[in-house]
Amino acid sequence: MLILGIESTCDETSASVVENGKKVLSNIISSQVNEHLRWKGVVPELASRLHLEKIIPVIDEAVKISRVKLEEIDLFASANRPGLIGGLLIGVSTAKSLAWKLNKPFIAINHIEAHLYSPHLENDIKFPYIGLLASGGHTLIIYADSFIKYEVLGTTIDDAVGEAFDKVAKFFDLGYPGGPAVEKAALSGDEKTFDFPISNLYKSHRIYDMSYSGLKTAVIHHLKKFLKKDLYTVNDIAASFQKRAFDVLIKKVISACKNFNINNIVVAGGVAANNYLREQFYKLEGYNIFFPSLKFSTDNGAMIAGYAYHKYKETGGDDLSIGVSSRVLGYKSSLNT
Ligand code: KG4
Ligand code: ZN
Repeated sequence: MLILGIESTCDETSASVVENGKKVLSNIISSQVNEHLRWKGVVPELASRLHLEKIIPVIDEAVKISRVKLEEIDLFASANRPGLIGGLLIGVSTAKSLAWKLNKPFIAINHIEAHLYSPHLENDIKFPYIGLLASGGHTLIIYADSFIKYEVLGTTIDDAVGEAFDKVAKFFDLGYPGGPAVEKAALSGDEKTFDFPISNLYKSHRIYDMSYSGLKTAVIHHLKKFLKKDLYTVNDIAASFQKRAFDVLIKKVISACKNFNINNIVVAGGVAANNYLREQFYKLEGYNIFFPSLKFSTDNGAMIAGYAYHKYKETGGDDLSIGVSSRVLGYKSSLNT
């Protein structure tokens, strides 16, 4: 089955043709990073305009590279939540129009579920597993029974981990986008310079939840309070922040693995591009760790098309009247409901 997947939830316009959920025939990504650079963050209205400009050329290119004719596509998929409304509308309307014109089915995809699918594009991963999704808008830990059936064990109760990276980078002028800028600065920093606090929620019903607003505030506003040495550089701040931000995630994932007696771990989302995070996970003994390769870590159409294959097999396509949403719905037990 040939699927065209469109991703336009934030600041990347991407289209990809994937065969049977696995064989990536093309994956074109047009990044808006340079256009948002001077504001050091994504400007939603600008993002919408750029998606509008790029969506057709990006789809054309994806189809051309795949060497498949548009008429041969069996299913059109686009992320319809969560994300910036303008971008979502452009991706979804384009996919729906193609499906309607070519008399093929359309399916709306949850962008978060697609991220968690991304390591499956290149690995055969056995269920069940514990999944960690860490992106700019979301941070959550799931227990996955199948591609479709999973339970959300915990989420951030305030900022997403990627968002904390972005804000720390912006405050200290480390560069844009924030995640890779912090990672780069941290390379020449000493992670033991600051003992930043990280809120480790402990009540029994939220043992897998996390919070990043306290860490972000400590790093930005109360730096001196947590200093352990006299002298420091901005690289030391980046390294200490990065360590604390990831320590808690790793700890919670391992605790979920132990409680559910599971040794397969899937890590996905833009933050999964971070090498330090990868190293910390790969160091763990007794676990099978799966990350997407770098090109499938940040937003991309291949994860949308890949996940659409399994979703479509389970649920069939969506009515063309289906809408878009800036939020993940049904947050607590499943992202589907
Ligand atoms: O998944 P993604 O591309 O878009 C969303 O769905 O949000 O994730 C983007 C997020 C941003 O917050 C970005 O700073 C973060 O992922 N990110 C990183 C790295 N690369 C991207 N965070 C830490 N280290 C990185 N190397
Ligand atoms: Zn994403």
